[in-house]
Amino acid sequence: WETPDGKPFRQRLLVVANRLPVSAVRRGKESWSLEISAGGLVSALLDEHLQSFTNSFIKFKVDELRAKCVKEFEARWIGWAGVNVPDEAGQRALTKALAEKRCIPVFLDEEIVHQYYNGYCNNILWPLFHYLGLPQEDRLATTRSFQSQFAAYVKANEMFAAVVNQHYQEGDVVWCHDYHLMFLPKCLKEHNSDMKVGWFLHTPFPSSEIHRTLPSRSKLLHAVLAADLVGFHTYDYARHFVSACTRILGLEGTPEGVEDQGRLTRVAAFPIGIDSDRFIRALEFPLVREHIRELKETFADRKVMLGVDRLDMIKGIPQKILAFEKFLEENPTWHDKVVLLQIAVPTRTDVPEYQKLTSQVHEIVGRINGRFGTLTADRSLDFPALCALYAVTDVALVTSLRDGMNLVSYEFVACQDAKKGVLILSEFAGAAQSLGAGAILVNPWNITEVATSIGTALNMSAEEREKRHRLNFAHVTTHTAQEWAETFVSELNDTVVEAQQRTKQ
Ligand code: G6P
Repeated sequence: WETPDGKPFRQRLLVVANRLPVSAVRRGKESWSLEISAGGLVSALLDEHLQSFTNSFIKFKVDELRAKCVKEFEARWIGWAGVNVPDEAGQRALTKALAEKRCIPVFLDEEIVHQYYNGYCNNILWPLFHYLGLPQEDRLATTRSFQSQFAAYVKANEMFAAVVNQHYQEGDVVWCHDYHLMFLPKCLKEHNSDMKVGWFLHTPFPSSEIHRTLPSRSKLLHAVLAADLVGFHTYDYARHFVSACTRILGLEGTPEGVEDQGRLTRVAAFPIGIDSDRFIRALEFPLVREHIRELKETFADRKVMLGVDRLDMIKGIPQKILAFEKFLEENPTWHDKVVLLQIAVPTRTDVPEYQKLTSQVHEIVGRINGRFGTLTADRSLDFPALCALYAVTDVALVTSLRDGMNLVSYEFVACQDAKKGVLILSEFAGAAQSLGAGAILVNPWNITEVATSIGTALNMSAEEREKRHRLNFAHVTTHTAQEWAETFVSELNDTVVEAQQRTKQ
């Protein structure tokens, strides 16, 4: 893109997501520090834009998007800083600290966070969109009723909208992200119908038969339809969304999207990717090489199997570990020759379902280690250690029960060009549609099938591994986060121009 006088044009982009890519830590009344990444090394490894701010691997993914947006667009990121800041002085100081990172905070109080984030987002929408159903009585009781949670959800979305409106300049593109902000397109368009608004869902969108169980099903669909462009990771999720609109709202679904009283909302699939070069480059850095050497030494006489997940019920961690146990039971010759390293990063720890899952996983890991001593579970890793671990792994196990895309599978493939390890991948992860040809696809609910696939992967010939790796590596290195962000934003620009032309005709 160029300006009329030939200079590169950087469009202003407002990214709006529940969480900012930095976490704030309070140091004093008016002093904040933003959580810095894994020590000085990461700063040395990565350029200014790619610098990651936290130790947790989850944030690297948020960073993929941020990095790309920062490079290609004049971007601002609007979101919740993850902390309660009740006092004005603290809010002022944090706003100032974040401004240096082009981040703009939305301040949410504790009650809103409880009802909106812990409640409606993570106790209702998240499990429902991953086909785990609506909360039963006991889950509801802990976070009060649907109605009050939905009211808090709408209120929180209005608070995000207020911050967007405050920073919006004519011509900006506003890109809203994820299930936390389904109401946001409606709030924004009601305030300014000329605003270019896109909304992207990072989780699956479930079958309309699942979505229709949600008490606020219609309000949410209408609110999303206020956007100009609605994006999903896969064609299936887009199709489910369109059917929900036709079956639940009685609207017309077209090949382009959904039409409501002559106004078209474009609906399409935009599969996300990673910044693969960043992982490939990292493997050459001295600290990563040192980690690789140490890991190779530690596991010299064993094959390494790896799981890297947030400690979330959708990730199927208990099922994966039970499948590994079954494999060991059925293959005694492998007992001292294989180890499963499971990285389980704690997440959403105020939600009771997540607390239950944590104890369940600890219990299973303890029991299996009592029997075989071949499982290690860790909480989280910094970026260099994560890259090293990906590089030495023989078999990666990504066995989510449902997953929007799952970028761990992409990161593993990016780090495997030397080793050419095997990816066992859930058919219910969005990534199965892009890495299916090279991975061994499994139904994660079928523990016997996963156990058998572990054997197949461990015994796979070098030629077969090479062939499968080539397919996946080619995909991961060509379908990048950059391309994803650019495609979405340029499609959003085009959609708005087309709509304007239609109105003029
Ligand atoms: C998923 C969601 C993201 C979310 C992330 C971490 O990937 O799609 O929107 O940020 O999980 O969860 P958290 O609740 O810690 O933000």
